[in-house]
Amino acid sequence: EDRRVEPRGALVVLEGLDRSGKSSQSSRLVSYLEGSGISAELWRFPDRTTNVGQMISSYLTNMSQLDDHTIHLLFSANRWEKRSLMETKLKAGTTLIVDRYSYSGVAFSSSKGLDIEWCKAPEVGLFAPDAVIFLDISPEKAAERGGYGGERYEKLEFQRKVAESYKALHDASWKIVDACQSMEDVEKQLQDIVLDSVMECQKGKPLSHLWS
Ligand code: TMP
Ligand code: MG
Repeated sequence: EDRRVEPRGALVVLEGLDRSGKSSQSSRLVSYLEGSGISAELWRFPDRTTNVGQMISSYLTNMSQLDDHTIHLLFSANRWEKRSLMETKLKAGTTLIVDRYSYSGVAFSSSKGLDIEWCKAPEVGLFAPDAVIFLDISPEKAAERGGYGGERYEKLEFQRKVAESYKALHDASWKIVDACQSMEDVEKQLQDIVLDSVMECQKGKPLSHLWS
């Protein structure tokens, strides 16, 4: 076993239903970290800028139809194509705040009825986050928030299933944050969680892999 202690950046993932506030909070976190002199970048999945990401985007905006298994594997491929850059950044000491990751992949696809173990399999070997923060909001409350953007999964009925799937998927290591608090209260809690994680990784916490 490799026991060398190398400081590195933290891999922090934000998860939650659509409209739970992940995107706003992710960018606030990155500003906060940079303001504190901590090197940080905002990442998001799907990353719609790649070729695979464009296929995903076209599916989400209902411009194309794909078999449920096929789109699941594309979401996974979209994470795999970013894996080596992720490793480079983390090892260079950059903390990555990631808006959605493998948990979205499994929660959304298993909500369509795909087997959960089948959904997890293509994620095996990706980097495991140092912290998973779940922005907790009821599907009903999320739907009230300025409406959905009209993408494929942004429907109350489906989001209810996704909420159940997240419940089946989460473990004791997840940090559950009440997303119905004020923006500032949520922000403060996230900052504490992320700083802890950044410190651990600076002390050389080893990178691990999914699923763990
Ligand atoms: P976004 O709104 O965060 O850009 O995500 C687009 C949609 O894609 C959102 O409804 C969640 C869904 N999704 C999956 O179904 N599988 C995945 O692996 C990811 C990352 C997102
Ligand atoms: Mg969305």
